Amino acid sequence: NGQSTLRPITSDVAVIAHRGASAYGPEHTLAAYKQAMQMKADYMEFDLQMTKDGHLIALHDETLERTTNAKELYPDRAPWQVKDFTLDEIKRLDAGSWFNAAFPNMAKKEYVGQRVPTLEEAIKFVKQKGNGKVGLYMETKAPNVYPGMEEKLIDILKKTNVLKDKHLILESFSEESLRKLKTMAPNVKLIQLYTADMLKGKDVYQEFKRIAEYAAGVGPSKELVVPTFMEAAHQNQLLVHPWTVNSQDDLAALLSLGVDGEFTNNPDLLADLLNKP
Ligand code: G3P
Ligand code: CA
Repeated sequence: NGQSTLRPITSDVAVIAHRGASAYGPEHTLAAYKQAMQMKADYMEFDLQMTKDGHLIALHDETLERTTNAKELYPDRAPWQVKDFTLDEIKRLDAGSWFNAAFPNMAKKEYVGQRVPTLEEAIKFVKQKGNGKVGLYMETKAPNVYPGMEEKLIDILKKTNVLKDKHLILESFSEESLRKLKTMAPNVKLIQLYTADMLKGKDVYQEFKRIAEYAAGVGPSKELVVPTFMEAAHQNQLLVHPWTVNSQDDLAALLSLGVDGEFTNNPDLLADLLNKP
């Protein structure tokens, strides 16, 4: 019956800290990850980019301009693309002061001088500070710009001993990138991300049936989530993790539609709604 498909597949709804607790601290810094863990996040989300010398780092944009002081430190290197900088050069950047300037009411001294973490550092930090209880959720960003990033990612997951973790999820907007990951690590949980444009003109049920071949779930832009969308996903045994949901009203509305987790900059609000111990 139609009703049962509206229930979440799992009784646990995942609090996914989007770039860390990024409403409260500078995204993709250890300080923002630490706050997300204090706010009872179940998963930490990392966006991945690759440096000129082949290191995976946690950073959302393909350029360093918005979230670091690259423009001041390297004035002649516009447009400050990650792929043109070595890790050593990136490590000299301040990845926290921009936040204090942009959000003075949230500013903290400890944010000044925060560094861009490598994926390896980010994993180790979350595993250690989260006592192994906080899951890892990683996005291959711009995989076309970074050939070989999937191989690097799997290597790092093996090296840090987390590839077999029950609470490891990999996500991408790129089907090609997800299929590569599936070939390399057939048991890893994969989430196909969707913008509204990607589903335009498509029969959602058929699309989900097709991707269920490699994906364990979908990560839709929040406005896509309506009852028929939920039904199509759950009928295909796919989890639904919408992004990016920040207000209490939106978080609650999506819970009542039966989502299985939500990406949020405000993990405390979702944890409260779920009465997380
Ligand atoms: O990964 C889910 C969501 O984060 C996708 O959007 O741009 O914030 O990575 P973006
Ligand atoms: Ca992301």
